[in-house]
Amino acid sequence: YDDKEDTTRTREKKNRYENQWELDQMKKASQLSTIDTDKINLPDQDQYEFVFDESQYVDFDQNEVIKGNEDPLNVEEEMEKKRMTILEVRESLPVFKFKQQFLETVQENQVLIVVGETGSGKTTQLPQYLDEAGYSKGTEGNKLIIGCTQPRRVAATSVATRVAEEYGCKLGEQVGYTIRFEDKSNENTVIKYLTDGMLLREFLNDPELSKYGALMIDEAHERTLSTEILLSLLKDICQARSDLKLIVASATINATKFSEFFNNAPILNIPGRRFPVEIHYTKNPEANYIQAAITTIFQIHLTQDLPGDILVFLTGQDEIETMEESLNESVAKLGSQIKPLLVCSIYANLPNEAQAKIFEPTPKNSRKVVLATNIAETSITIDGIAYVIDPGYVKQNVFNSSTGMESLVVVPCSRASADQRAGRAGRVGPGKCFRLYTKWSFYNELELNPVPEILRVKLTSVVLLLLSLGINDLINFDFMDPPSSESIIKALELLYSLGALSSLGELTKVGRKMAEFPIDPMFTKALLQSSKYGVFEDILSIMSMLGESGTLYYRPKDKKEQADKAHEKFSEEQGDHLTLLKIWNEWVETGYSNTWCQDHFVQYKTLKRVRHIREQLERLCKKIGIEDETDDNENKPLMIQKAILSGFFPNIARISKMGDSFRRLKQNQAVYIHPSSSLHSLKPPPKVVLYHELVLTSKEFMRNCMIIEEKWIKEFASHFYSGKDLEFLDRRKR
Ligand code: CDP
Ligand code: MG
Repeated sequence: YDDKEDTTRTREKKNRYENQWELDQMKKASQLSTIDTDKINLPDQDQYEFVFDESQYVDFDQNEVIKGNEDPLNVEEEMEKKRMTILEVRESLPVFKFKQQFLETVQENQVLIVVGETGSGKTTQLPQYLDEAGYSKGTEGNKLIIGCTQPRRVAATSVATRVAEEYGCKLGEQVGYTIRFEDKSNENTVIKYLTDGMLLREFLNDPELSKYGALMIDEAHERTLSTEILLSLLKDICQARSDLKLIVASATINATKFSEFFNNAPILNIPGRRFPVEIHYTKNPEANYIQAAITTIFQIHLTQDLPGDILVFLTGQDEIETMEESLNESVAKLGSQIKPLLVCSIYANLPNEAQAKIFEPTPKNSRKVVLATNIAETSITIDGIAYVIDPGYVKQNVFNSSTGMESLVVVPCSRASADQRAGRAGRVGPGKCFRLYTKWSFYNELELNPVPEILRVKLTSVVLLLLSLGINDLINFDFMDPPSSESIIKALELLYSLGALSSLGELTKVGRKMAEFPIDPMFTKALLQSSKYGVFEDILSIMSMLGESGTLYYRPKDKKEQADKAHEKFSEEQGDHLTLLKIWNEWVETGYSNTWCQDHFVQYKTLKRVRHIREQLERLCKKIGIEDETDDNENKPLMIQKAILSGFFPNIARISKMGDSFRRLKQNQAVYIHPSSSLHSLKPPPKVVLYHELVLTSKEFMRNCMIIEEKWIKEFASHFYSGKDLEFLDRRKR
C-alpha cells in the first residue's frame, strides 16, 4: 500500500487491477455468460491445467484424526452428526476436552489467549462454558452478561442463532446478538454476540463495561480496527475491574503477539481436527479468475468421484451474485447430464433467512457449491467442504494517509489467508484446494500476513470515538501497532473542519452527536445540516441508498436495451445522489411494490435492504433529536445538494485543463467518473463534482457523483481548502 514499493510489485498489482477492471466491464456488458456447456463433455479441451505438487501439503498439524475414518470423506459420519443430539455434537467438538483446563486457567488469570483451528468450537462453546461456570453472576448475585465480539455481522447473527438452539431458548432471550442497526437481545440475555464495533460504542455510555462479567474478543487474528481498539481499551479497564475476565480468541496466527500485548498472558492451544489438504496451483496465471473458478467448479464436479462440497472464495456480493446467476444458468442448461449441483452463497449483507441454506446438509448424490467472501475463512464453519477454490483475492478498504484517499480495492490476499482458505477443505476428511494462481505467485507476490486494518484505513471515526471516551493523548495511546502520527493528525484535521472539534482540539456539541452515530462523520454532518435546510427526510433516503447503490440495477441478457431505457428515466441532471432519491421516492409511492421493481429492472431485495437501513437510521436520529427544523424550502434539490456538500466537501474534484480527467481539489490527483454514474458520458463534462467514494480498479474512479457549483465551495469549505486549492475558481486568473 506504500507508493514507494518496488516497481515490479506495483506493476504486478496494476495488472491485477486491470483484470478486475475488465471483469467489471464484462459484468456490465453481461458478457460474463455461462460457460460453453457443449464443451463440458470434452474434458481435455476445456480444462485448466493444474500442477499437482505433492510436497505442497499445507503445513497442518495433524494432531488428531477422527476414528472410524474408512470412508475418507466421512460424509456419512457428518450426516450422522446431524442426527446426534445437540449435547452429543457439543461434546464431540475439540474444545470440549479442554473445558476443565480452560475454566481453571480463566479462574487463575484475568486474561487468556485461546488459539484453535476454525471449527473447533471456540465461538459457540466458550461463552457457554463461562456462563455455566458462573461468570454471568456478579458478587451480589446480580446478572452479568458474557459478551463475545465478532468482526462480522453475519458471523454474530449466525453463531447466536446456533447457540440459542444449543441453549434451548428463543433467539433474543438468554442468547442474543447486537449488530449495527439491529438488536436482538433483552434484559434476560446472558450470552450476547456482538460486532466489535458495537462493543466499542458501549464504552460511550458505560466506560467500565460494568454489564459484562466476561468478554471474549473473537477472531482477534483478523486485526480489525475495532478489535484492536477494543484490546487497547480492555487492557486499560482490566486494571480497574479485577473481576472482569477477558478471553482473546484467534485462529492459529499471531497468538504470541496478543500474549505479549497482555503482559505475557497464558496461551491455551486447542488442537483441531485437520486432514491433509492437497494444494494445486495453476501452471500459468489466469487472466479472469471468475471464469477460471466457474470452469474449475465443473471440472471438480465432473471429474472428482468423491462426494464433498465446494467452497469458492470471492471478493464481494456483486461478484458472488454474478457468479451464482451464471452457475445456475449452466446447471439448468446441462439438466440431467450432470448430478445435481446446488449453488448457495454467504456474504455480509445476506439476510438471515438466506443464511440457513448454507448449513443445510447436502442431499445424497448431489454437490453443493458455496460462494463466499472471506467470511468463510475463519468466522463461519461450513460442514462438508472437501474442495476449496481460491482465486487469491480479497476486497479491502485502503487508505493512503499522504493523499487522504480511502478506496475499496481488490488486492491479493495474504499467504496466511490462503492457507486458512485451504484448511477449510480438510475439516471432514482429506481435501483439495485449487489455487487459481501460480506457485511462484504464492511465494513471491503474496504478503506473509494481512496488514492490520489500523495501518490502512481512515482513522476519523476511531479518533472521534477515542476523543469522546476522554482519550486525548492519541499519539501515546497503547495501540498494538500504532498508526502513523501523520494519519492521526489527518483525522484530527478532518474532524476539525467538520466542526467536531474546537480549535483547542476538544469535542464540540456536533462532535458528540457524531460520536453517537455509527456512521462516517461526513455522513453525520450532512444529516445534521439537512435538518436546518428542511431536507432531513431526503438526505436520510439518499444516505441509505448510497451504501447499496452497487447492487441496485440489473440487466437481464435478453432485455438489456429495455433495462437501460428504464434506468435512464431515473436519471437526474444533478447526478447520482438525486437519481437515487428519485428511485427511492417512486418506490415508496408504489407502496414498496415488487412489480414496480421488476418493471423498472431494479433489485427488489436491494430496496428492501435500503428500507431496513433507513428505518434504523431514522430511529437513531430521533433518539438523538435530529429531525426537520423547517419545512419551508423553495428549492428542495438545491438544499439537498448543499446539505450533502456540507459533509462531503473533502470529496471534490474539478475537471482538468485537458478535460479528460478530474483532479481532486487539495491533492491534485487524477480521478475519473465511474462508468456507472449518470454523469459519466455527459457532454460537456461537468466542471466540478462531489463524489461519494473512490474505487480503485484500473484507475481511481469516483462512484456516485453530483454536480456542484464553484461558488458553493467557498461558501461551505473555505476553511478546508487553502487559497491555492481554490485558485481555479478565480475567473480572471483562469
Ligand atoms: O469458533 P470456532 O471456529 O472454533 O468453531 P465454532 O464456530 O464454535 O463451530 C463449532 C461447530 O459448530 C462447527 O463444527 C459447526 O458445525 C457448528 N456450527 C453450526 O452448526 N452452525 C453455526 N451457525 C455455527 C457453528
Ligand atoms: Mg469462531
